[in-house]
Amino acid sequence: MHSIASLQDYHDQYKKSIDQPEAFWSEIANEFTWRKKWDKVLAWDFNNADVKWFINGKLNITENCLDRHLATRANQTAIIWEPNNPAHEAKHITYKQLFEEVNRTANMLKANGVKKGDRVCIYLPMIPELAYVILACARIGAVHSVVFAGFSAKSVSDRVNDAGCKIVITSDGSYRGDKTINLKGIIDTALESCPDVSRVIVKEYIGKGAAIKEGRDVLWDDEIQKASAQCDAEEMDAEDMLFILYTSGSTGRPKGMVHTCGGYMVYTNYTFRTTFQYQEGQVYWCTADIGWITGHSYILYGPLSAGATTVMFEGVPSWPDWGRFWQAIERHKVNIFYTAPTAIRSLQQAPPEFVKRHDLSSLKVLGSVGEPINEEAWHWYDENIGKGKCPIIDTWWQTETGGFMIAPIANVTKLKPALATLPLPGVQPAVMNESGLEIQGNNIEGRLAIKFPWPSMARTIYGDHQRFKDTYFSTFPGKYFTGDGCKRDDEGYYRITGRVDDIIIVSGHNLGTAEIESAIDEHTAVCETAVVGFPHDIKGQGIYAFVICYDKPREEEKLRSEIKEKVSKIIGPIAKPDKIQFVSGLPKTRSGKIMRRILRKVAEGDTSNLGDTTTLLDPNVVDEIKAGAL
Ligand code: PRX
Repeated sequence: MHSIASLQDYHDQYKKSIDQPEAFWSEIANEFTWRKKWDKVLAWDFNNADVKWFINGKLNITENCLDRHLATRANQTAIIWEPNNPAHEAKHITYKQLFEEVNRTANMLKANGVKKGDRVCIYLPMIPELAYVILACARIGAVHSVVFAGFSAKSVSDRVNDAGCKIVITSDGSYRGDKTINLKGIIDTALESCPDVSRVIVKEYIGKGAAIKEGRDVLWDDEIQKASAQCDAEEMDAEDMLFILYTSGSTGRPKGMVHTCGGYMVYTNYTFRTTFQYQEGQVYWCTADIGWITGHSYILYGPLSAGATTVMFEGVPSWPDWGRFWQAIERHKVNIFYTAPTAIRSLQQAPPEFVKRHDLSSLKVLGSVGEPINEEAWHWYDENIGKGKCPIIDTWWQTETGGFMIAPIANVTKLKPALATLPLPGVQPAVMNESGLEIQGNNIEGRLAIKFPWPSMARTIYGDHQRFKDTYFSTFPGKYFTGDGCKRDDEGYYRITGRVDDIIIVSGHNLGTAEIESAIDEHTAVCETAVVGFPHDIKGQGIYAFVICYDKPREEEKLRSEIKEKVSKIIGPIAKPDKIQFVSGLPKTRSGKIMRRILRKVAEGDTSNLGDTTTLLDPNVVDEIKAGAL
């Protein structure tokens, strides 16, 4: 097994991955089960946004996540499912049980008409069936498109239509703390605008008697009973699609990022084992929802292909109280704990007793993901949760990258608070200046690009390769542009400074400002909107909307709540603006472009120096906006 045990190993392997990338990755890929090995490791052309890894290799990722473990770890727990309510029992699902459930679910999908290459929309809470059906798709070569079960009906229907899904897998509802959410109702509304969906499989989870549409809907529990527990895995090409996962774009529609079978498997497995230094028998918990890339890569595929025990958590950190995470760590003797800065910041504000009353001595490694972690949160996490003895693995990566890109290796890389540290083997960052030139040397700051392919990178945007090329490969021709800014310090360590485009990261979730603006514009009173991010103590960034109404609003508070409700309906509750300021105009240039720089300053509460405003069509609006700032 390829491993990195020391800093020297890291440097040696990093060097090899740069000097001989094909030899480096083929040695790692050789550790997997392939039906047929590849003819060529890599072919790439960043000018056309074309990348292929393990060309003509044949495999099925579930044979690597399940079948190959049966000989040695059939009775080892694969998934520990921790329910929303801590008074209920956790489920321990062994590799053998998981294998059988996935096979059965695969047969259920086949019996409901799903074939290789079909796209399957999955809208489920964090219950074991979510893992079963994702892996079942992969087993039969269907492409899963998981939609986070906090998204609205409109977001679901957009994604279903964009991916051309004919089948949706959902449940009657979900639990979230002390609330229940009617997922089936959301699906029914969504499917009113999805004429091609002819089948819905409904898991009755919170009750019995889900509303059933005759001819279209069937119940999971009825269907699964008819399915056998043996389903041969479909042979997939390394470059066949494994899944689509949507992420926000800086303009309008979300982008369906396409990930493929071979490279994704190799890279998520390698980065999971290496970065966290996962040891045989350890219990690993990533608190993300499987509806995001973090859950895909580092709750399911990475850990399961590595034969790990992975925790799947249905609940929320604050219910029944702020000790929920720490209680679950104690209960399952979690060794590796991976969460997001937004969760850390909110837990940090709870009374310390919630941490102190739990035994966290099983912890060996901590992780962070989703946004830059601030130093205060880093130190709190280190001292209170890691007790000063657990390295914090701050992993920088993206839906598009499929796996970790810049991150320390546990107990190998020297840490610096709030820095993602060094690139992993195979990752070749470039820091670019505004004129598109790579800045050499250290102690520099610029935009982060990547100049060489890595196995798990997204291959395209579903149905729109041109957009893929334009979004990621045109800013710096010949390089992948990440959309992030960064600094490289005197030792070559990277600090990610945040997005440099029109995407804001709210509680670790990517949201396009254009998407929020068009949702607000749907309100009949609203004429035009501009949305920017502002620093928020808990969420990292909050959403600040500047809204022009047709008529001066008479009841501002009422209108604010209606606008929030609108956004919640159209995108989902995570996109609700924190602040809404009504204005009579926006700062626009003569060519009609909104000067967001000015709005960002106002939203940050820093209006002392707004820079040059002379190019504005009407500089007076700035004074009005400043005076009304919230
Ligand atoms: O801005 C970076 C930020 O999250 C963006 C990617 O978001 P998403 O595709 O939703 O994936 C999130 C989970 C991988 C990045 O462009 N980001 C993610 N991780 C970090 C981060 N920023 C700083 N430090 C991180 N560790």
